[in-house]
Amino acid sequence: MEKQKAIAINKDKCIGCGKCVKDCVGGKLKMVDGKAEFMFSRCIECGHCYAICPVGAVSMAAYPDATDEKPVSMTEFDSEKLLTAMKSRRTIRQFADKAVSDEDIAKILEAGRYCPTGTNAQDFSFTVLRSKKDDAEREAVKFFRTAQKAATPFSSYIKHFEIDDKFFFKGAPVVILVSSKGSTSGCLASSYMELMAYSLGLGVLYSGFFVAAAKFSKKIASLINLEKGSKLVTCLVIGYPAVDYERIPPRKEAEVKWL
Ligand SMILES: Cc1cc2nc3c(=O)[nH]c(=O)nc-3n(C[C@H](O)[C@H](O)[C@H](O)COP(=O)(O)O)c2cc1C
Repeated sequence: MEKQKAIAINKDKCIGCGKCVKDCVGGKLKMVDGKAEFMFSRCIECGHCYAICPVGAVSMAAYPDATDEKPVSMTEFDSEKLLTAMKSRRTIRQFADKAVSDEDIAKILEAGRYCPTGTNAQDFSFTVLRSKKDDAEREAVKFFRTAQKAATPFSSYIKHFEIDDKFFFKGAPVVILVSSKGSTSGCLASSYMELMAYSLGLGVLYSGFFVAAAKFSKKIASLINLEKGSKLVTCLVIGYPAVDYERIPPRKEAEVKWL
């Protein structure tokens, strides 16, 4: 039996414009008798052919229920305003006692899902900590307090911190963990998620300390169901900010080489 191809072209709809052929990163499409044809069984399923087709002749076997959602150009956002908004984002460490809705969490996850990934691998997973949040933080606090007393370079780094009970999550209502085999994709997904959270009026703290705790503590890794071979890349602590900032702080000049 012939394997189902990743991409199907509806020959009746195809107008032979060749746009999909030209835009395919893998050279998997060719023009045959004036119509586009998918020449292999598999591809990276980036969906450029699906996205570019002017007549909707392309379908993807893995996504039979794909919708016809229309793209919006980034130019709709004023670039000066966008830049100022990006510079205005501050790490939030004081959170209001207010829940984050499931709809908002879903939007944040959706933003992460759509970040670019090498070979369209989408090689990350998200864990939303709510009911297990307090257990995870308790374990991390315990781990750090013990680690402070040890004699390792990490211990000397954290020795001077006051590890209170909310040291990692600062009383925020939601924590999203981003895990991945590599780290690039997870970082990109996190950045997309962070920006979406801010656009919803939420604030974010990247808890690098929690990531460190999960790296060294098997108990925490098991509590958060971290799969073997996967590593925790980021920990986004999310909630409504209980703090306002009046101005944008300065930053070092970017180190830029023009070669
Ligand atoms: C990967 C990463 C990990 C971080 N980990 C922590 C953390 O564990 N605790 C904390 O208070 N801040 C943490 N931060 C926040 C940084 O300290 C903060 O981004 C930096 O001081 C600049 O402040 P700003 O984000 O408000 O511009 C982290 C930031 C990043 C990007």
